[in-house]
Amino acid sequence: MLLSLSLLTFGLCASAAVVPRQTTPCSFSMTAVGPPNGTIVEDTIGENRIGGTYPQGVYTISAHNLTDSLGHKCLIYPSTSQFQCTQGTNGASNFSLADDGSLLFDGKAQWWACPATGPGNDGSFNIFADTKADTTGCQAVTLKTGGFSCAALGSSTSTSATATSSSSPAPSSTTTSSVSCPTDISSGTFQFPHLIIPTSPKAPNHTFGNTYQASISPINTTLFNFDIPSTAPYAVGSSCALLFLFPYASSLAPSAGKYYFSGVEEEEGEHGGLDFALLQGIATSATTYATTPGVAQDYGKTEILPGNNYTVAVFPCQSGKTVTYSASSVGNVELDYFQNSAPSPIGLYVVPCA
Ligand SMILES: *[C@@H]1O[C@H](CO)[C@@H](O)[C@H](O)[C@H]1NC(C)=O
Ligand SMILES: *[C@@H]1O[C@H](CO)[C@@H](O)[C@H](O)[C@H]1NC(C)=O
Ligand SMILES: *[C@@H]1O[C@H](CO)[C@@H](O)[C@H](O)[C@H]1NC(C)=O
Ligand SMILES: *[C@@H]1O[C@H](CO)[C@@H](O)[C@H](O)[C@H]1NC(C)=O
Ligand SMILES: *[C@@H]1O[C@H](CO)[C@@H](O)[C@H](O)[C@H]1NC(C)=O
Ligand SMILES: *[C@@H]1O[C@H](CO)[C@@H](O)[C@H](O)[C@H]1NC(C)=O
Repeated sequence: MLLSLSLLTFGLCASAAVVPRQTTPCSFSMTAVGPPNGTIVEDTIGENRIGGTYPQGVYTISAHNLTDSLGHKCLIYPSTSQFQCTQGTNGASNFSLADDGSLLFDGKAQWWACPATGPGNDGSFNIFADTKADTTGCQAVTLKTGGFSCAALGSSTSTSATATSSSSPAPSSTTTSSVSCPTDISSGTFQFPHLIIPTSPKAPNHTFGNTYQASISPINTTLFNFDIPSTAPYAVGSSCALLFLFPYASSLAPSAGKYYFSGVEEEEGEHGGLDFALLQGIATSATTYATTPGVAQDYGKTEILPGNNYTVAVFPCQSGKTVTYSASSVGNVELDYFQNSAPSPIGLYVVPCA
């Protein structure tokens, strides 16, 4: 698998290298700045939405064409003006990025956020172009791109996260996007968790307490608290990214001990991975499985392989707030590790985007 992963990476770079500079694709995630503020997610029928429980969308723009991570073309439907990415071709596709990183349609930065209705309503908002006729109950928003350095040619996968692989040299690019997030913690400020608490349904009332030992298994879920500063570069209006760094076990610092990873069979055979979610409340050192707050936003599954760093999600920085993320297992994957920022860092981090 590691061999095929590096071949895949090579393939992406090789194909990118023959693309003319001005059409170099640029991949990113988006956040809405409103209100409502929130991450742009994509539901199962390709509707782009603000907030809610669907996985975060990852998009690529190339010469005014916007596509999602499945390669579906994003369009503004003529009859509804709704912003969707589907396999259909009936719609307008004239997207571009403003100098401030806003997504434009027909050169306009304003979009409408209208509450999603009907079955499956999860509190999210559907998104419409400025041309929407009836905007009753809707609110004007702008859509900020960010998440991956456009110069780094983020390689979108079918999951909500994108891996930056060790061997990809970043071709230079003239594509502009003013919001780009570091994909590791080596180049600047970062936040590490101040509280890490495993929970287990096998001991629903037991407090495991604060520990730097994270246990993510078919049984255990681990909670991570971050205290986001209120000052620059985390100030209100800034974007932040949640990263999961997963070095090779052989490159861990001795202080980090060894991690246990159940391996790639679960990942591939059972489509496994780690599911990260933002919780509605804040965990404390007394939190148990039974008292774990509910999920506010599920970022979906991140398939992890040693030797990679992952951008789990990009969102407006929760300036001055404490937030709790949970990490749980999908498809029988197990990872037990000691969170450590020493070289080589492992685990969950929050970084500010530029
Ligand atoms: C953009 O989409 C149009 C219409 O589908 C297509 O003709 C054109 O080749 C696409 N351009 C790029 C750079 O993909
Ligand atoms: C695309 O948008 C630009 C503004 O960015 C506008 O000038 C142009 O007319 C639009 N093209 C089409 C085909 O609508
Ligand atoms: C992951 O991040 C660490 C530290 O931030 C960095 O040293 C390492 O090179 C990164 N690995 C990859 C594969 O990008
Ligand atoms: C956990 O606490 C709840 C409520 O106090 C109780 O109903 C339940 O039996 C306890 N479970 C265990 C395994 O102790
Ligand atoms: C996690 O789950 C394993 C069983 O898979 C259990 O042995 C272990 O004690 C649990 N660890 C914590 C910290 O809950
Ligand atoms: C939305 O984001 C903007 C800018 O990022 C901020 O000024 C505003 O307070 C936010 N609103 C809410 C309701 O969080």
